[in-house]
Amino acid sequence: MEPEYTNAGDGYAADIVSIREAQARIKPFARKTPVFTSDTLDSVVGRKLYFKCECFQKGGAFKFRGACNAVFSLDDAQATKGVVTHSSGNHAAALSLAAKLRGIPAYVVVPRNAPKCKLANVKRYGGQVIFSEPTMQSREDTANKVMRDTGAVLIPSSNDGRIISGQGTICLELLEQVSQIDTLIVPICGGGMASGVALAAKAINRAIRIFAAEPLGANDAFLSKKNGRITKLSEVDTVADGLGAFLGDHTWPIVRDLVEDIIVVDDKEIIQAMKLCYEILKVAVEPSGAIGLAALLSDSFKNNAAYSDCKHVGIVLSGGNVDLGVLWNSFHK
Ligand SMILES: Cc1ncc(COP(=O)(O)O)c(C=O)c1O
Repeated sequence: MEPEYTNAGDGYAADIVSIREAQARIKPFARKTPVFTSDTLDSVVGRKLYFKCECFQKGGAFKFRGACNAVFSLDDAQATKGVVTHSSGNHAAALSLAAKLRGIPAYVVVPRNAPKCKLANVKRYGGQVIFSEPTMQSREDTANKVMRDTGAVLIPSSNDGRIISGQGTICLELLEQVSQIDTLIVPICGGGMASGVALAAKAINRAIRIFAAEPLGANDAFLSKKNGRITKLSEVDTVADGLGAFLGDHTWPIVRDLVEDIIVVDDKEIIQAMKLCYEILKVAVEPSGAIGLAALLSDSFKNNAAYSDCKHVGIVLSGGNVDLGVLWNSFHK
């Protein structure tokens, strides 16, 4: 058997060793999520699809893996003053839950326009909510103020080795469940999941291809790959509310080197994929969680040079925190 590729010396913020450590660290707390298959969807695309259902992760999204790894990596002296983050929601809820499990405070800066169900999750897990304006600058300024006032440790949502390592455990687990996977499709925002998954996959089997799925209205990762440098957008506009942030200096080099391509899809494609998840897989995903399936079904992926080689495709359904108020109301006549 080929020796495991460790990325040691590549200068990345994480590697297979830190990902395996994360797996052991979060094991007592995180859920081993199921892998769903569907003959119907397989026959539509002529491939074997494996859906890694991270919407069933604690807190309703994969984000718990990274948050839990980060919180339980802190020594007691660091942890005692708590943790702080700014997040569009899923990381905030995940960090609140991880902090609760460790018995420390979590301060979460949430943009005013975050979906209600994501806010409710933060509060359910005991996170202390501080509102900011929905701009990155306001989120960062507010989080910095909380750090100064409380002494809490900042735990970013993606651009952090501990987070990347935690998210990489999705891939370790998935490849333990389905060893024949040759292609992985994951959503991308700050790139924590794509980075962790790519590091883990390449360490286990260098031939596995990793694609990241991104909304057209927030296509910074696509532009970054195209331009060969981190490229940010002045504004984002997408139904995938979890995918509005940008790559950072830790995630970018990994995405640049190990992610094959960024598949861009529009909101219509995302909603259509979300519908298929509900109707065929019977899985409640949020738009950001369904984008991997949208990418797989898209023309841009079908036109990709690697498409004909994908036979066993792992797709991460990354989260299920969606406000379905309008849908429920539609049942009341
Ligand atoms: C449901 C969901 N999927 C995917 C992502 C993207 O993750 P990352 O920031 O690690 O790229 C997020 C980020 O918040 C998310 O909430």
